[in-house]
Amino acid sequence: MTPTRARAGANIALIKYWGKRGAGDLNLPATGSISITLNELETVTTVTPDTALSGDVFSLNGALIEDARVLRLVSRMRAAYPAMASYCRIESVNSFPTAAGLASSASGFAALVLALDAAFELQAPTDELARWARIGSGSAARSLLGGFCRMHRGQAQDGHDAIPEQLLDHTAWPLEVVVAITQTQAKGTSSRKGMTHTMATSPYYSAWVRHNEQVLDEAEKAIVSRDFDRLSELSEASALQMHASALAAEPAVLYWNGSSVECLHAIRELRQSGHGVFFTMDAGPQVKAVCLPGHGESVATRLQQVPGVQSVVSSALGPGGCRI
Ligand code: DP6
Repeated sequence: MTPTRARAGANIALIKYWGKRGAGDLNLPATGSISITLNELETVTTVTPDTALSGDVFSLNGALIEDARVLRLVSRMRAAYPAMASYCRIESVNSFPTAAGLASSASGFAALVLALDAAFELQAPTDELARWARIGSGSAARSLLGGFCRMHRGQAQDGHDAIPEQLLDHTAWPLEVVVAITQTQAKGTSSRKGMTHTMATSPYYSAWVRHNEQVLDEAEKAIVSRDFDRLSELSEASALQMHASALAAEPAVLYWNGSSVECLHAIRELRQSGHGVFFTMDAGPQVKAVCLPGHGESVATRLQQVPGVQSVVSSALGPGGCRI
């Protein structure tokens, strides 16, 4: 049968998601989050339904792998949609290092649900695809939308209201992102493991949840009014508070290396010398610099010189995931 392709960009949270609510396997977030979707860091996924297959087959960057989360999501969707009658081959390719804190699971699950929707002609609305993507990975629902996106925590136990909403599209405020890669091998503790352990053992976790939920409206306001200085303060605080809650877990979850810390200092110095830039970090040692339009190039040049930085990757903001 004909192969069908979809793409989705990675996204980076400015106000972080770190931890889950409720029991069960709906992967509901403990707090809302706010993210930007990137253009140049993307996953392209091809789905080919094949009646001759006796099970779904998944490959990532050309290597066949048994990815339980991917295969579980596909069979769960098959149970919900009669149109997904046959098994399929799923080929996923990332344009950036997998599992190194660059949100490959977010773009991966977003591209997956879009490619399945297209290949089996499910014609599911975006909110419905977002719920499936969220079950795959909490941050993935945000990659369905472009530009600036707010993921709602929701209240419902069935998760129908835990869905993303676009705040601005990628052309409305074309910020630039520079990622300093300080380590290329896969990270030690996945974000899922790290947040589950933080929830279970960190005395700071409940404070994190309370506070993070409170700053969402203010961050939304800063985005809608293009207030870069306020967005910088709120974003850096959310990232550091997320890491502080993880550092307070027992044993501590520490994602940073020495070079990560050097990058944070370099970005603060750049800001003091007049550059429009702030930092954020996720469940890995890479440092992401978010820059005002026109400031990305000088920030990239400076970060490239930080000891331990292996390379820098620059990206514009991008549109939401789509069939290609
Ligand atoms: C630090 O979405 O990878 O990047 O839902 O368990 O798959 P699961 O977690 P995941 O966590 C992302 C955590 C983060 C912050 C963020 O992207 O909001």
